[in-house]
Amino acid sequence: MEMAFTVRLLLLLISSFFVVPIFVFSQTDGKVAVGAFLSATAGNNSSWLSPSGDFAFGFRQLENKDLFLLSIWYAKIPDRTIVWYANGDTPALAPQGSLVNLTANDGIVLTSPQGEEFWKSETSVGVVAFGVLNDTGNFVLEDGNSESLWETFKNLTHTMLPGQDIEKGGKLSSQQSETNYSKGRFQLRMQDDGNLVLNTINLPTDFANPSYYASKTTGDLNSSTAGTKLEFNSSGYVYVLRENGEKFNLKEAETVSARSYYLRATLNFDGVFALYYYPKSSTGNVSWSVVWSLPDNICSMGVDSGLGVCGYNSICTLKADKRPTCECPRGYSLLDQNDPYGNCKPNFVQNCDADELNSTKDQYEVQVLKNTDWPTSDYMQLYPFTADGCNASCFEDCMCAVAIYRVETCWKKKLPLSNGRVDSALNSLAFIKVGKRNATLQVPHLPSPDDGKKKKKLNTLMPVESTLLVTSGFVNFLLIAAVCLGFFFIFRKNHERCTQNDLDINLHSFSFQELQEATNRFEEELGRGSFGVVYKGKIEIGSGVEVTVKKLNSVIQDSEKEFKTEVNVIGRTHHKNLVHLVGYCDEAQQRLLVYEFLSNGTLASFLFGDTKPSWRQRIEIAYGVAQGLLYLHEQCSTQIIHCDIKPQNILLDDYHNARISDFGLAKLLMMNQSKTHTVIRGTKGYVAPEWFRNMHITTKVDVYSFGVLLLEIICCRRSIDMENNSDERAILTDWVYDCYREGVLECVVDNEVEALNEKSKLERFVMVALWCIQEDPSLRPTMRTVVRMLEGVVEVRIPPCPSPYSRIG
Ligand SMILES: *[C@@H]1O[C@H](CO)[C@@H](O)[C@H](O)[C@H]1NC(C)=O
Ligand SMILES: *[C@@H]1O[C@H](CO)[C@@H](O)[C@H](O)[C@H]1NC(C)=O
Ligand SMILES: *[C@@H]1O[C@H](CO)[C@@H](O)[C@H](O)[C@H]1NC(C)=O
Ligand SMILES: *[C@@H]1O[C@H](CO)[C@@H](O)[C@H](O)[C@H]1NC(C)=O
Ligand SMILES: *[C@@H]1O[C@H](CO)[C@@H](O)[C@H](O)[C@H]1NC(C)=O
Repeated sequence: MEMAFTVRLLLLLISSFFVVPIFVFSQTDGKVAVGAFLSATAGNNSSWLSPSGDFAFGFRQLENKDLFLLSIWYAKIPDRTIVWYANGDTPALAPQGSLVNLTANDGIVLTSPQGEEFWKSETSVGVVAFGVLNDTGNFVLEDGNSESLWETFKNLTHTMLPGQDIEKGGKLSSQQSETNYSKGRFQLRMQDDGNLVLNTINLPTDFANPSYYASKTTGDLNSSTAGTKLEFNSSGYVYVLRENGEKFNLKEAETVSARSYYLRATLNFDGVFALYYYPKSSTGNVSWSVVWSLPDNICSMGVDSGLGVCGYNSICTLKADKRPTCECPRGYSLLDQNDPYGNCKPNFVQNCDADELNSTKDQYEVQVLKNTDWPTSDYMQLYPFTADGCNASCFEDCMCAVAIYRVETCWKKKLPLSNGRVDSALNSLAFIKVGKRNATLQVPHLPSPDDGKKKKKLNTLMPVESTLLVTSGFVNFLLIAAVCLGFFFIFRKNHERCTQNDLDINLHSFSFQELQEATNRFEEELGRGSFGVVYKGKIEIGSGVEVTVKKLNSVIQDSEKEFKTEVNVIGRTHHKNLVHLVGYCDEAQQRLLVYEFLSNGTLASFLFGDTKPSWRQRIEIAYGVAQGLLYLHEQCSTQIIHCDIKPQNILLDDYHNARISDFGLAKLLMMNQSKTHTVIRGTKGYVAPEWFRNMHITTKVDVYSFGVLLLEIICCRRSIDMENNSDERAILTDWVYDCYREGVLECVVDNEVEALNEKSKLERFVMVALWCIQEDPSLRPTMRTVVRMLEGVVEVRIPPCPSPYSRIG
C-alpha cells in the first residue's frame, strides 16, 4: 500500500490509544470546539445539539444496516426526521466505528475506522474557530471573526428549513427511496433565468428532462420581475423573490406559525415538493401534516417530462394526500420486489413467435380498466372506431400489448408502456392483453463479450466524433508521472462499484491485429504525447466510426491486472466534458487505448490560434473543464486525479464543448516508473508547487493547473510567453495578479469589449483563478467550490497573493 497512507493509519492508531472517547457533548450554546469528534456506534446515537435541543447533528444508523449517515435531524420528535445529510448526491455512508472530527483546516472530516477520509466539508478559505448548530437547523463553521466559512444551509440536500434560501443555480435533489439516501430522479432547481422548476433526470446521468412544474418567474424583458432566489422566510412563507422585491408565493395557502410548529419543505423521493408542519409541543400521536404540495397531480406529469413517478408498465394513482402510489396491472409483477415504484414486467411471454405457435385465442385474455392511460408508446391510431373493434384489433395483433379507447379513437400500444396513470377525467377504456400462462424460464440471449469480439459489434459505442492531439509536455508529464508513484492515491468511494469481477462491462477489448487494421498499420499519426503516439483509425461498425488509438510506450510490464483495473476505472467515467474511452488492447507487450475522435482539435490551438475566440465561448469552455474535473474528483465511482491539466489535454467537440482527455493516465503510467524529479523544480507552468516539495499529492494539484488554464482562457495567451512579452508580463500568473491588485483588469483581456461588458464576471473568474493558484494547497478551493464560484452561487472573497514565498517585492 502507499506509504503516505500507511503513515496516516499508524498515526491514527497511535493517537487512538491516548484519546479518551467522549461521545456525548453536553453543550448548551450549540457550539462545537475544534478537536471535538463523534463516533458511529450502534445503539448509541451520539450527536451535537442546538441550544434549544430542537436539532441534532451526528450519526444516524440506517434501518437494518450497519451503516451510518452523517446528518441533521429533529431531535425532539419521535421519528427524528432527517433534514440534511453529508455529501448530497452520493451520501457518505459510514461503517460502524467511523469518526467525524471538527478540524481547523478542513472543517468537518468524516473518516472510516481505518482512517480513510470519506468526506469533508469544503471550507475553501480560512481557518475554522468553532462550529455551531443553530436553532434554525443550520450547522455553521465560523472563523475567528464570526464569519461563516461553511454551512449546511448552503449545501442543499432534499429539505429546506425556515431561514434557508436557494440561489440561482441551486437545487434540491430527491433521495432514491424512503430509506435510500442516494440521489434520486427528481430535482427542484432555481434556474439562472429566474424560473423555479421541478424536473426529473435520467439517472445515472444528470440529463434533465423538461420540467413538470414551473413557477414561470422568468420576468419580462422590460421589467424587473424575474426571480432571483427561492426563499423560505422565518415566518414560514415559501416564495420566489423577484428582482423588484415582489414575492411569488408557490402556493396561496393559509399559513402555519413557525413559532409553534416545526416547518420543513421537502422534495420527496416520489417527486412531490411539500411544505410540512409538526406541532412543537406535541403530546401523543402526531405526525407531519402537509400545508401544501407541488405539483397538483404528479401522476399526470407530461410525457416529455420523463418517465414519471412509476416505472415502465406501472400505473400511478394519486392518493388523498397528493402523493402517488404505483401498481402493476394484472398479469404483470414488479421487476424488483423491493422497489414498489419501479418497473413492472409481464409474467407471460408476448411476442409474435409465441403467437404463431399457439392460436392467439388460447394465449391471452383481456382485462378492461376504466380511466387508465399510458399516454405514450402508441404505434397506431384508428379513427373513427368502436370500442369492440379496438379491443379486437389489439387482441389479434401480436405487436399490441394494450389498446386505449376514447372519443371514437383507438390507440394501439406496445411494450414498454410508460407514464401510466389513473384519472377519472380521462373517460377512457384500456384493453390489456394478459397471457393466460406464466412464462416458462426463457432467458433472452445476452451477448457475451466474446460475441462482440467476433462480430466487431460494439453496442456500447457512442456515435463518435473527435480528435486526440497531444503535443508538448512530454518530459514534464513523464516526470510528474514518476513523482506520482510515491504519493498518488486513489481512494475508492464506492467499493461495490469497482470490484474486479465486473471488468469489461463497458469496454471493448481489441486484438492488436484489429487495431492494426483500424489504423491502416498505424499510418496517420496525430501526435505524440508523454505516453506514446496517437494514431487516427476507423472501426468498422455500420458505416465506420472514427477513433483515435493511443499506443502506450512501456507501461506496466507485469501487471496485467492493474492495467485492466485502471483502464476500467477510465472506462467507467461518463460525463459530457470527458473524452470517452471506447476500448483497449492488452496483448503481450502491446498496450493501446481506443478513444472517440473529436474533430475540433485542442483547446491550445483554439486559444492561441490566429483568431481570438469569443468571450462567451471561452466562458463556456471554462465551465466545461471545471465540471469535468469536478466529476473526476468527486462524482465518478473512483476518484481520479488528472495530474496534467493543460490546454493541450482539453479537446473540443463539434459544438466546442470542452472535453478533458488523458485522465487516469497518470496512474496508469506511473505504475512502473522510476522516480527522478529534479528537472521540473522551478519551472513555472501548470505544475502545482507541492510536486517539488515532497508533499502529499491531492486533487488540489489539478485545481492549481485549472487556475493557470483559467487564466489562459481569460487572457487568450500562454502561461509562459517570453517571446511576445516584456519580462514583467512573461509569467501570466504573476502579471494577472499584479493587474488585479492594481485594479486594471481591462489589461488582461486586452480591452476586449465583450469581456468588459461583463466586468463583474471577468473579475469573478480572475479571482477564482487566483484562489486556484495559491501556493498553499489548503488555501485552494475544491473543484466543487470552484464550479459554484464560477457560477456565482458562492461569493468569491478577495484572493491573497498566490505565491507569497517565491515572489520578491
Ligand atoms: C453509549 O456510549 C456511552 C459512552 O461511551 C456509554 O457510556 C453508553 O453505555 C453507550 N450506550 C449504549 C446504549 O451503548
Ligand atoms: C441562527 O442564525 C441566524 C442567521 O445566521 C442568526 O440570525 C441567529 O442569531 C442564529 N441563532 C442562534 C440561536 O444562533
Ligand atoms: C441505494 O440505491 C443505490 C442505487 O440504486 C444502490 O446502488 C445502493 O446500494 C442503495 N443503497 C442502500 C444503502 O441500499
Ligand atoms: C415572510 O413573508 C411573509 C409574506 O410575504 C411576510 O408577511 C412576513 O413578514 C415575512 N417574514 C419575515 C420574517 O420576513
Ligand atoms: C405467475 O407469476 C406471478 C409472478 O411470478 C405469480 O404471482 C403468479 O401466481 C403466477 N401465476 C400462475 C398461474 O402461475
